Amino acid sequence: MRQPYRVAEPGLPERVTVYEVGPRDGLQNEPAVVPVEVKREFVARLAAAGHRVIETTSFVRPEWVPQLADADELLSGMERLPGVRYPVLVPNERGLDRALEHGVREIAIFGSATETFARKNLNRTLRTQFEMFEPVVARALDHGLRVRAYVSMCFGDPWEGPTPVGQVVAVGRALLDLGCFELSLGDTIGVGTPGHVTALVEAFGGPSRLAVHFHDTYGQALANTFAALRAGVTVIDASTGGIGGCPYAESATGNLATEDLVWMLHGLGVETGLDLPALVETSVWLAAELGRPSPSRVVRALGRPGTAGRHVKE
Ligand code: HMG
Ligand code: MG
Repeated sequence: MRQPYRVAEPGLPERVTVYEVGPRDGLQNEPAVVPVEVKREFVARLAAAGHRVIETTSFVRPEWVPQLADADELLSGMERLPGVRYPVLVPNERGLDRALEHGVREIAIFGSATETFARKNLNRTLRTQFEMFEPVVARALDHGLRVRAYVSMCFGDPWEGPTPVGQVVAVGRALLDLGCFELSLGDTIGVGTPGHVTALVEAFGGPSRLAVHFHDTYGQALANTFAALRAGVTVIDASTGGIGGCPYAESATGNLATEDLVWMLHGLGVETGLDLPALVETSVWLAAELGRPSPSRVVRALGRPGTAGRHVKE
């Protein structure tokens, strides 16, 4: 894709990996359960648009997230392309068993930086969440899987307020030490601001093995991403169409929209391998399936027939 408004900024990475979370984080928060065929088509369209990592679903307790209760059915009939990673969320050994049955090669565990969210999202305490994750990671590694970790509520928590940076680093390091290859810093409720992002990456000792995961509740997700890029982070989570949220976190709204991220990255001369018009087309299709428009500004700007014009070319 040729981005005509392209002016490079010195000091940024040349290329980033966009870690797509739309089918998981996006669809887990939809009021209605999306049919499994629509989920399969969503994943296929994302791969066709150039995504090389698509977080596909969750093997959590179905009663907790009914929207993704069809994870087994989804993976049974889903085409998986060579060169594309299809990680799934797994909280416990039962989830791992289910993932292994489907030949999953990569999983993500998801810890909480705060006590209240650990209880609400995992039915565990800050401490006992590790007792749940430890055997999951050990067994997954034995099976040759790659394991990512999330740490949620990195900036603030709806019940506890701002999260102390030291607490996030302690939980994040402990998750990495289990044997995870990457740690995604989750701003679950979107309250972070760019200086906070810089401080958090510094507190981890730099960007090595870090990814970022911003929800856009307060409109800060792009600014926060820019701060993360400046700090050297090269893996950015985003959701096509800007859908998303967590059913167990009040006030969590959509993720950073992949299209808004790609517009900024390509404008900065940072390569992603993604085809923006194909992503916009996917969002327009998805919005029709979900029955409501995408919150993404780029989708709004480019998503109507004839509006892309000179602004985006193949
Ligand atoms: P629990 O109720 O404590 O479960 O839930 P349990 O361990 O007591 O087990 C009770 C029963 O559930 C047992 O069945 C288990 O087999 C079954 P029984 O013996 O009674 O017949 N069970 C399962 N069944 C299928 N699959 C499973 C499973 N696990 C147990 N995996 C649990 C504990 C962790 C399972 C629950 O709290 C849970 O599923 N939580 C997930 C919540 C969730 O998915 N939240 C959204 C994702 S996190 C997020 O969005 C944030 C993120 O995007 C980053 C950010 O934004 O910050 C990642
Ligand atoms: Mg999230």
